[in-house]
This record gives sequence, C-alpha cells and structure tokens, in this order.
Amino acid sequence: MNHFQYKNGELFCEDISVSAIAKEVGTPFYLYSKATLTRHFKAFDSSFADVDHLTCFAVKSCSNIAVLSLFGSLGGGADIVSGGELFRAIRAGIDPKRIIYSGVGKSVEELRYGLKSGILLFNVESEQELHRLNSVAAEMGVTAPVSFRVNPDVDPKTHAYISTGLSKNKFGIPINESLDLYIQADDMANIEVKGVSCHIGSQLTLISPFVETLRKVKGFVGRLEEKGISIQYIDLGGGLGIVYDDEEPPHPQEYAEAIKEEMSGLEATLILEPGRVIVGNAGIMVTEVQYTKTNRGGDHEKHFVVVDAGMSDLSRPSLYGAYHAIQPVKEDKAVFQVVDIVGPICETGDFLAKDMAFPRVEQGDLLAVLSAGAYGFTMASNYNSRPRVAEVMVAGDQFKIIRQRESMEQLIQGESIPEFVEK
Ligand code: LLP
Repeated sequence: MNHFQYKNGELFCEDISVSAIAKEVGTPFYLYSKATLTRHFKAFDSSFADVDHLTCFAVKSCSNIAVLSLFGSLGGGADIVSGGELFRAIRAGIDPKRIIYSGVGKSVEELRYGLKSGILLFNVESEQELHRLNSVAAEMGVTAPVSFRVNPDVDPKTHAYISTGLSKNKFGIPINESLDLYIQADDMANIEVKGVSCHIGSQLTLISPFVETLRKVKGFVGRLEEKGISIQYIDLGGGLGIVYDDEEPPHPQEYAEAIKEEMSGLEATLILEPGRVIVGNAGIMVTEVQYTKTNRGGDHEKHFVVVDAGMSDLSRPSLYGAYHAIQPVKEDKAVFQVVDIVGPICETGDFLAKDMAFPRVEQGDLLAVLSAGAYGFTMASNYNSRPRVAEVMVAGDQFKIIRQRESMEQLIQGESIPEFVEK
C-alpha cells in the first residue's frame, strides 16, 4: 500500500495534489511520500522484530540525505558501496556502528575513510582487498572488522544485469574457496573476522533462492566453527522484489518467516540490506508532456508522447527494458491509444514506455511515472547537459524540496578553459 492515490480524479501524494507541487517546483521532479517510506521501512524491519537483526538500508537505491535520515531515525543502518555513500550516511546522522561497506572495488582512500569513521563491517570481496585492508589498518594502528562476501552460486531468477550471486558474476568469493581466506584473515594482526555476507541479486520474486543461499551460508558457518572461527554476523544482503506490473513478490513478512526459520539455531546477528522493497513504491517521477506527434511510414503509424524527462532522469527503461507504469496526474482522459512515451534526449533508446496503451494526453499535461523511488534519481546523469531534476518529500499536507533542481552554473561547476586552449 502506498500514499499515491487519486482523489476526485486527481493524483495526490498523501494530502497534497501532485499538480499543486508541480506548479511550485516545476517539472520534472521526483516525489517521495514520507508516510510510505516509513510504512515500508517498518513493515520490513518489524518482520524481524523477534530476532537479533540490523536493517541496513541500501543507500544506492535512494541516497538523498533526507531519506537516509528518516530511516536512521527509525533505527536503520546503512549498506554503502562507496566513500560518497559513507559521506551521505554520516551526514544523515546514521551511527557508523550501523554502517556496513560492500563493493568489489574499494580504494585505499575509501578503506581509510571507513576505518576512520569506525564502521561496523567491511564486506571484503577478494583476497587482494583483504591484504589492502590489513595494511591500511596497520598503518592507522587500528583493527578492521571484516565479513567476507561469499558467492553462493545460487540463481536468483531475475534480470541478468542485476543477478549477482552466480559464480560467473564478479561479486564475492566463491563459497567453496573462502575457508582458506578466513583462516588467513584470522591470523592477520589488523583484521578481526566477524561475519559472513552475501547478496545474490535484486528484484527477486521468489523466496527459494534466499533460503538456498542461507542454507549454504549456514553450512559454511559450521565449517568455520570447526576451525575455531566464530561468526557474529550473517548478512543476507538485499534483493526482495516489488510490484512494477504483474509481479507477485512475497510480502516482507513471508520472506522474514522463511529466513528466521533457516536462522534458528544460529547465534549470529542477522543483517539485511534492503533497498528497492522499501523505497521503490514510495516514490514517483512527475513529468510534463511537451509534444505529441505521429510518425507515419508506408504501412504503419507510430504515436509519440514527448515528455520533459528522459533516460538521464530515469534510466531503468532504457538500461534494462524495465517497465514503469505511467499515469496522467488528472484522470479525466478516457480515449486510449498505443504510444511510446519518450524523452528529449538524442538517443533512440531514450524512452520511458514503449507501446503503452495510454489515455490521449495533450501538451502541458502532467504524467506520473510510478515505482520510481528506487534506482531512479540515484542513477540520473547529466547526459545532453541536462541539469538533474529536483527531489521533493511530502509529509501529510506539507512538502519540502529535499534536493534543488540543478542550475546551469552547477552543470559546468569545476570545469575551466586552460590558457593553451584560449587564443
Ligand atoms: N546489497 C548489495 C550488496 C547490493 O549490491 C544491492 C543492490 C543491495 C543490497 C540492494 O538490493 P535491493 O534490495 O535494492 O534489490 N539498478 C538496478 C538494481 C541494481 C542493484 C544493485 N545492488 C535496477 O534499477 O534495477
């Protein structure tokens, strides 16, 4: 359930009409509902209430500091994958002791920053990273808390670009080869082995791959214990899917029950890294129709709705062929036609929807692109020198711009013309 609903034919976010916000903010913009963010975070987190756990929100899915701060205030931690995300999480007031650091390519500076900040865990993804982390920690005179990200070789049955737990993917260390690394790490002066972590993919609509993964991890933890290595944290990653169209993902409660059953008998604290399931349906992108046109060929005609947002603002349709439902903000449009909804960018791949049966809209109409809260703004770029759009949060009958629309000056910030270029 989310708080984007029609009232008297007009789309509302909580108690404010979307068109009233558009009037003040201009388009395009991302719009998040605080009540929905809160509801989704609590629905997920409270499903695990009866076990020792930590919900570390995957910052990459929606990284505005207002959103992070909200989850921090609800007791959440953060799953980060870069120094930039660490900076955001700290700025948002998230306790470093609730921050875990994933990712295959951490630089020396990033490791140093994580150590200096006193984060809870580094999810180490290679032998070389382990050695680098040990030497950076030694240089700083500290001990690095480590969990290895193991790759369980489980098929998450999702889009190939977002499946990460197969042995052919770049992520983690093959689970069957990790034991030696744990033994090695256990002997290192500046490493403290604390956990096992994994993340098998995103937008999963089945529970079985999670259960299969946890079984493998459980078996592995047993082997570690035989070697005298005890594990305090088991991190199952993120990945729970949401409804974009006609998917039928499990409810977080169902997912939690299955995980908790597998965890029984284990002493460890459970860490979860959800992103999409919390924010995906808590945000929309609002865009305005600029033009409608029909291109006719010999035996066909194609209708286009050209809007002011494109692949630089929401890249998922272009990048993954992902489906996002799109609806007019005013519901009074009855006649349907099959259209492509496209952006202003000079690429044929710049579309938000293809062959969508859509009410007949006109120049100036506002459209809501649904389920855009996850991997929407965070994947935006400045391609075609388009300033990144504004982000807005609604709470009841109030709204606040939580990120200003970028200005033209910001577009060229940091650029300069060297003397040898000037005449
Ligand atoms: N933890 C790790 C280590 C991850 O790599 C990810 C996502 C998550 C947690 C959160 O997964 P979630 O709960 O959101 O599924 N850009 C793609 C999704 C990429 C996901 C990358 N990793 C998309 O728009 O579908």
